[in-house]
Amino acid sequence: MPWSVGAGLEGRGVIVTGATGGIGAAVTRAFATTGARLLAVDLDQARLDELVASLEGEGHVGIAWDVRDVSGHEALVARAREVLGKVYVLANLAAVLQRRPSLDEVTEDDWDFQHDVNLKAAFFLCRAASRAMIEAGEGGRIVTFTSQGWWTGGFGGSVVYAASKGGVVSMTRGLARTLGPHGITVNTVSPGQVHTPMLMKDLPRETYEQQVALTPLGYAAEPEDLAGTVVFLASDHARYITGATINVSGGLLMY
Ligand SMILES: NC(=O)c1ccc[n+]([C@@H]2O[C@H](COP(=O)([O-])OP(=O)(O)OC[C@H]3O[C@@H](n4cnc5c(N)ncnc54)[C@H](O)[C@@H]3O)[C@@H](O)[C@H]2O)c1
Repeated sequence: MPWSVGAGLEGRGVIVTGATGGIGAAVTRAFATTGARLLAVDLDQARLDELVASLEGEGHVGIAWDVRDVSGHEALVARAREVLGKVYVLANLAAVLQRRPSLDEVTEDDWDFQHDVNLKAAFFLCRAASRAMIEAGEGGRIVTFTSQGWWTGGFGGSVVYAASKGGVVSMTRGLARTLGPHGITVNTVSPGQVHTPMLMKDLPRETYEQQVALTPLGYAAEPEDLAGTVVFLASDHARYITGATINVSGGLLMY
């Protein structure tokens, strides 16, 4: 096996959701450098087109899709198989965060919205992708995204988001257990603070600064700091890692 971070990904089909987001764009670009072929999924076609046009390599496609449409996931994966051949990797980053300063401000819609995108859609898309991987018979890689909030309960009015991300950790473990016999690994990446639109939206400056002060490395991550971890988890080098929650928080949390 060649010792490069993207070993085994050349020519492989990769789906990335949340692909035009802060971390998603960095992940998509990183996969493209390995020779993988990308299906980039997010909400806005123009932004997807721009991203796809900037990628290294050939054969990448962007599809605007609301992942909350879970009844459409089989069709999305079928489309992925048409454009990529086989699907070997799903990196599921699409998520939403709605901060509410007090518990009293949390509405039922807030709860449903965040759980629909962050957890429900994640489950059904992982299932649809895993079916395609099983049929292809070559194993596969699923990388989900949780957050430090799964462990801490969340900062800055994000308790509902944190609950959805706790669900992602449990779901990832359950999927890893179920899909292991098919040679499919399932892991989740847990960022601390990463400079993206999601982090900065409605976050009180003092909360941001407190978190940076508690981070031994002394700064919030850039999206690229997460991308290498995702590519590694999808590579041949990570073939014996499954069910793991990979803490990429600059030491904010240690486990
Ligand atoms: N930025 C951070 O500090 C941080 C910390 C912990 C965890 N995370 C996680 O990392 C992942 C990426 O987050 P980010 O910081 O890049 O956020 P971001 O807001 O920049 O990107 C999220 C992307 O998901 C897309 N999306 C949202 N709802 C969608 C839907 N219904 N269908 C399709 N796409 C949808 C958005 O359009 C956006 O492009 C998320 O899972 C997030 O929860 C981020």
